[in-house]
Amino acid sequence: MKRTVRKPIIAGNWKMYTTVIEASALTRALVAQVKTDDVDVVLCPPFVNLLPVFDLIKNTLIKLGAQNMFYEPIGAFTGEISAVMLQAVGCEYVIIGHSERRQIMGESLDAIRRKVGAALDQGLIPILCVGETLAERESGVTRDVVTRQLQSALTGIISKQINSGSGLVVAYEPVWAIGTGRVATPDQAQEVHQHIRQLLCDQFDVSAAENVRLLYGGSVKPDNFAELILKPDIDGALVGGASLKAETFFSLIQQCGSKL
Ligand code: PGA
Repeated sequence: MKRTVRKPIIAGNWKMYTTVIEASALTRALVAQVKTDDVDVVLCPPFVNLLPVFDLIKNTLIKLGAQNMFYEPIGAFTGEISAVMLQAVGCEYVIIGHSERRQIMGESLDAIRRKVGAALDQGLIPILCVGETLAERESGVTRDVVTRQLQSALTGIISKQINSGSGLVVAYEPVWAIGTGRVATPDQAQEVHQHIRQLLCDQFDVSAAENVRLLYGGSVKPDNFAELILKPDIDGALVGGASLKAETFFSLIQQCGSKL
């Protein structure tokens, strides 16, 4: 596949960390450091911190994302948040299908598919997460698992939705690498990223496959990211733990910039 230049992107998934005071302090520290838009920088704080974080980044180069959403636009769904609501507090991105939601909250393939559709319909950019467990990798079914998760989540999506407007981001996050300190090797990650890009080409077209940005996620740190980001199909990172300290996250942002 022809190599196109995709703008690198790095998203900080703050998970269930940060009170509003901590989130504001972390955001202020990042605002003071991020001065160029060579890289799309996305902060994904907990729901209750979205608005305060947005207030601090709204006139800056940093963008806002949520960690989850519900697929219905409005209604009696206690505890849920819709795409419309996320957009109203400044979100441009939303993480969908994170493995913690799949595994701990029991989020189904069907729910994830509906969320991706609802996000795209609303003009939010889904950061769709896929990835295999350790048992799946060890039994040699990584490609099958990633194929099933990706194809299921994108059923009913047409290439126009990917190529025009907001677009799509896919994050490959091997479950065994998330929060474990055990990172995929650059070759392991590249192999799956290349497979994902081929799946996008098969399902949509070459242009969608070339435009969709693919993130690696799972124990990304400043000392293991340099080689990962050099791989041709890795366009950035989805970062958990290392996004909670301004200096480590900023170091990863700078490394993403070296991709250009
Ligand atoms: P980690 O989390 O960087 O702490 O491994 C990544 C993620 O879950 O998105």
